[in-house]
Amino acid sequence: MLRIEKYIERILKNAIEKAFPNKELKPIEITIATNEKFGDFQSNFAMMNSKIIGGNPRKIAEDLVNNIPENDIIEKLEIAGPGFINIFLKNSYVSEYVRKMTTEKYQFTELNTDGDIIIDYSSPNIAKRMHIGHLRSTIIGDSVKRLCNFLGYHTVADNHIGDWGTQFGKLIVGYHKWLDKDAYQKNPIEELERVYVEFTKESEKNPELEDIAREELKKLQDGDEENYKLWQEFIKVSLEEYNKLYERMDVHFDTYYGESFYHPIMPKVIDELVEKGLAVEDQGAKVVFFDEKENLHPCIVQKKDGAFLYSTSDIATIKFRKENYNVNKIIYLTDERQQDHFKQFFKITEMLGWDIEKVHIWFGIMRFADGVFSTRKGNVIRLEQLLDEGKKKALEIIEEKNSSLSDEEKDNIAEVVGIGAIKYADLSQNRQSPIIFEWDKILSFEGNTAPYLQYSYARIQSILRKAEELGKALDENKEIQIIDKNERPLSTYLTLFPTMALKAGEAYKPNLLTDYLFELAKKFNTFYNSCPILNQEDNILYSRLLLIDRVAKTLKEGLNLLGIKTVNRM
Ligand code: ARG
Repeated sequence: MLRIEKYIERILKNAIEKAFPNKELKPIEITIATNEKFGDFQSNFAMMNSKIIGGNPRKIAEDLVNNIPENDIIEKLEIAGPGFINIFLKNSYVSEYVRKMTTEKYQFTELNTDGDIIIDYSSPNIAKRMHIGHLRSTIIGDSVKRLCNFLGYHTVADNHIGDWGTQFGKLIVGYHKWLDKDAYQKNPIEELERVYVEFTKESEKNPELEDIAREELKKLQDGDEENYKLWQEFIKVSLEEYNKLYERMDVHFDTYYGESFYHPIMPKVIDELVEKGLAVEDQGAKVVFFDEKENLHPCIVQKKDGAFLYSTSDIATIKFRKENYNVNKIIYLTDERQQDHFKQFFKITEMLGWDIEKVHIWFGIMRFADGVFSTRKGNVIRLEQLLDEGKKKALEIIEEKNSSLSDEEKDNIAEVVGIGAIKYADLSQNRQSPIIFEWDKILSFEGNTAPYLQYSYARIQSILRKAEELGKALDENKEIQIIDKNERPLSTYLTLFPTMALKAGEAYKPNLLTDYLFELAKKFNTFYNSCPILNQEDNILYSRLLLIDRVAKTLKEGLNLLGIKTVNRM
């Protein structure tokens, strides 16, 4: 099934061919009407093409409208203002579309979905517990992946973990000097983190520690056995911890290659850069200089001591992906501070002549009102702590509202609602705005929040259950009738779901979808307050059951695209 405006477009395109044959026209655009008075959809085709066709846009609009035959979709057309075409849909068409919405799959035929979209997200640096600074990349990335899948793309979710940075030299030094064996036994990653903070503190007093750390790192990179073993252990204990959190957040990756995986490719990358004259020696290091117009700092790709850098690994990553996938595009999610890094290495791969589409999706950093989170400064909120806090808050509310549920059910609902609230609080923000972290805001359960949507979903499930108890279960063979004035806005708004998901997916902006779902839930609640269901005569009852079932399924599918689950009772 296509988006509803695609069916309208077909009718209008036929009319355009008849009315204005053999003309090179700008393609017709159909937009959602900004006001009910202007119908359901609008087109500014006449104004867009008035120069090409010649003549008054209102006259062009009339010629077009006069060539549209009677059809099952359009009820009436009006010409407004300077030449807008206002399109009003037939109730019968809207209701039939709504009925089919959840049984047929959407087709986004205009997208080129060949190949793989590789999405590189979450990507924490090993040996630190994940904190709320990792939240955004993880859940925005997950939602982008889900949106891409919905649009028909094949995705590869890659967790590009930071397992090859300078932190390992420091960790190895810290491990030998300050590790508390018992603490390490109990909670390895917590102890590693402590050791790391210790290193930072000590090295301020004693800067030689930095040199020792660099030596340890070099030894590791040259394959020293002892350091290599330690390094593997750090990765293992870190991933064990991360996977617990990913599981709770319902975030799943296809690969976890990480920076180190590309290490063997890096010398080849340097060779190619040198051969092509792109990397040159500068004070012993190998550096890529950019054209002045690029406005980019030179990029070091290999240090004097032979060590590779973050950029080198990213260039190597592209080489690997180019050779091992049929890349449609690569999408990266990081915070705004990495914009220059991405510009640099994207440019370098272009200079190498590697033709791969890449997008860096950056987002604003989350901070406390008085500063940024930092593991080194020790002022972080751990992700686990945040999820627990969300769950606790949800549990309190459930106890208050629905204490008759079993403890197990309460626990399950609290996990879904608490984590949903947290994800939604982040996803519903404009991606590029900075976020000031406030517990109240992130754990809010009212208004434009996941719990409000989850509650609307559960409310519908409860109505459907009651109907079934009355012997009037939802019946797919019945029709949806649009009669009451509150049924129409709800129904037409429902039909826009695939359009909104497309918009959100193309702009990589999950907040466009949250806005839609919030509006949908509000429209459902308005409808339900004035349109009773269970005490109505059968044809109305069955029609409304079908309508609310579509609302519920759309809420569920929409929330699923955000990585948020639903529950049948709350
Ligand atoms: N590990 C990096 C960090 O924590 C993020 C990696 C992003 N992905 C990439 N291909 N550079 O900052």
